[in-house]
Amino acid sequence: MFRQALPQAVSSVDMKEDWIQQKLDEAATRGLTRQASVQAQTGGIIKENRKRILNFSGNDYLNLAHHPHLIERARTALEEYGTGATASRLVSGTLPLHEELETRLAACKNQTAALLYGSGYLTSLGTIPHLVDRHDLIFADRLIHACMLDGARLSGAKLIRFKHNDPTDLQHRLEQHPANGRRRLILTESLFSMDGDLAPLPEIAFLADNHNAMLMVDEAHAMGIFGPTGSGRIHEHNLQSATTLTMGTLSKALAGYGGYICGTALLRQHLIQTSRSFIYTTAPPPAQLGTALGALEILENEPDLGTRLLEKAAHFRKALQSHGLNTLQSASQIIPIVIGDNHQAMHIAASLKEQDILVGAIRPPTVPEGTARLRISLTLAHTDDDIDRATRAIIRAIPS
Ligand SMILES: Cc1ncc(COP(=O)(O)O)c(C=O)c1O
Repeated sequence: MFRQALPQAVSSVDMKEDWIQQKLDEAATRGLTRQASVQAQTGGIIKENRKRILNFSGNDYLNLAHHPHLIERARTALEEYGTGATASRLVSGTLPLHEELETRLAACKNQTAALLYGSGYLTSLGTIPHLVDRHDLIFADRLIHACMLDGARLSGAKLIRFKHNDPTDLQHRLEQHPANGRRRLILTESLFSMDGDLAPLPEIAFLADNHNAMLMVDEAHAMGIFGPTGSGRIHEHNLQSATTLTMGTLSKALAGYGGYICGTALLRQHLIQTSRSFIYTTAPPPAQLGTALGALEILENEPDLGTRLLEKAAHFRKALQSHGLNTLQSASQIIPIVIGDNHQAMHIAASLKEQDILVGAIRPPTVPEGTARLRISLTLAHTDDDIDRATRAIIRAIPS
């Protein structure tokens, strides 16, 4: 009996997997196959077999991933508290380091309180559904990151998209959809991850205030770069208010892992009671808390790191633009070069890789259809000579 059942089970698995193969084939035809290729190291410069590889595809913006202070802070935390938090925050996983990091993050961003999550993605998923529900309304910039979009969908609130970085369109949509007893939440990114452009935060915050809506800003890519001691653009423009929340990640300029939300003490208390991705998961591990504390200390001690990076980025952008390349409205360390076709973007990235230059080829659905692009992510590890070398290679690789 058993012998007979086995081949049947295998063939039914095969049948079940046909649809997977079909999906993979479809993606390949459209130039959309994704690959997790292995890198020898992290950081803006990868040293491998005596080669100096320029990595413009990571997010170690401030070159902190190998910084001795962060490593020391991580090691101390690891030695003192062990490898894992070993429990969820509300059971017995809250360590003094969690509270210390939350206090330090809130102080850095000049907000009252902060709450840590396992990642930026989990932050979004665990907060948006506890701010609004299916009776409410969300107004989201058309280009917000997948994590905010997924949080919005999970909430069940009606999702209204406004034109990218367009406060006039947002105003129009707020007027079209009045509160009428419903909560309204505006979602935007501070610095857009795939375009490198900046949201008009003062105008958006003004609209939120005027229309009695909450505003949640994802500072994932702005943290460490903009604002006093790299605290982000909400602090830079003094837009903190009881209804303005900032979320972010510890995984980019801060070179570690984890996410956070900042807001009022009341909001923090509400999330502690309700937020599923805070409650039903193990607390962030000690080494990551140490890493983030170390990164915040570096930001305090070297407050000009972000400005230095932005100056380098302006130089890089100017060089690319002078050769007619379309860098959209980038005004940051993230510089897109729009190619359009998926296959061509992949081909150019592959030819740059052969020259030891790593650049992300970003395709739909991460970016809108027809706007496949190279995404340059500049870090403080890159020298002016590196930037010149990359500029020459990119210009050669892109057909005019
Ligand atoms: C804009 C933005 N928000 C949130 C995230 C998610 O952060 P994390 O990597 O910590 O999950 C990312 C990228 O990963 C991002 O680019």
